[in-house]
Amino acid sequence: MAFMFLREMVRTYRERDPAARSSLEVLLCYPGLHAVMWHRMSHFLWRKGFRLAARFSSHIARWVTGIEIHPAAKLGRRLVIDHGMGVVIGETAEVGDDCYFYHQITLGVARTSAGKRHPTVGNNVIIGAGAKVLGPITVGDNARIGSNAVVVDPVPADTTVVGIPARPVDRKLPRAAESFDPYGMPCDDSLDPLLHDLEGLRAELTELEARVARLTSAGQHQATRSAAD
Ligand SMILES: CC(C)(COP(=O)(O)OP(=O)(O)OC[C@H]1O[C@@H](n2cnc3c(N)ncnc32)[C@H](O)[C@@H]1OP(=O)(O)O)[C@@H](O)C(=O)NCCC(=O)NCCS
Repeated sequence: MAFMFLREMVRTYRERDPAARSSLEVLLCYPGLHAVMWHRMSHFLWRKGFRLAARFSSHIARWVTGIEIHPAAKLGRRLVIDHGMGVVIGETAEVGDDCYFYHQITLGVARTSAGKRHPTVGNNVIIGAGAKVLGPITVGDNARIGSNAVVVDPVPADTTVVGIPARPVDRKLPRAAESFDPYGMPCDDSLDPLLHDLEGLRAELTELEARVARLTSAGQHQATRSAAD
C-alpha cells in the first residue's frame, strides 16, 4: 500500500514539475514528497490514538523537511509540495486530491477558537509561494491562489485570487482537467500579449508591403503610358 502511494507520488512529481528529471532524483531530493509520505505515518498513529507519538513523528518530519503538517490534517492523493520550506498545514485543515502547493504557504487559523478552524481546500488547487489561507473557509476545486496572497474569504471553484486581502482577478480561465500549468500560468501561446502584438505588427507589415507593391506597379504603369505618349 505504502509502496503504491510512493509510486503514485513519484509519478505525479515527474509529471507536474518540469525540474524533476528522474524518479531517483524525486525520491532523494524532494522534501515535499518526504513530508507527505511521513505524514501518512503520523496520521495513522494519530487515528490509532497514539497522539504524542504522532505529534513527535510529525515534529521530526518538520526538522528534516522544513514542512510542518499537523498529524490530524487530512491530505488528499497526489499532493505536491514544491520546494516546501516553511509550509504550515494546521490540525483541522483538509486538502483534496491533485493539489499543488509552493513553499511558505500556510493553511492556518484566522482567530483562535476550538473545533474546525483551518481551511478546506478542494481538488486540483494551486497555492502560490508565500500565500496564507486563514480560517475555516473553503477553497473550491481548480482555484488558484496567487503568490503572497492572504485569503480570508471563501474562494469559489475555478477562480484565481490575488492580493491582500485576496480578491478574484477579473477573468476565469477555462482549464482542461488533463492539462496542468506548474506556475499557475497558462502555457497557451494565444494568451501571450507579446505574441499578440507581434501578430498585429506582422499583419500591418504585410498590408504595407501590399500597398507599396500596388503603388510601385501603378507608378510603372504611369511611366510606361507617359513614355508611349
Ligand atoms: C495568481 C496566478 C496563478 C495568476 O495567474 P493568471 O490567472 O494567469 O493571472 P494573470 O497572470 O493573467 O494575472 C491576472 C492579474 O493578477 C495580477 N497578479 C498575478 N499574480 C499576482 C500576485 N501573486 N499578486 C498580486 N497580483 C497578481 C496580475 O498582475 C494581473 O493584474 P491585471 O489584470 O491588473 O494586469 C500566478 O500569478 C501566481 O501567482 N502563480 C503562483 C506562482 C508561484 O508561486 N511560483 C513559485 C515558483 S518557485
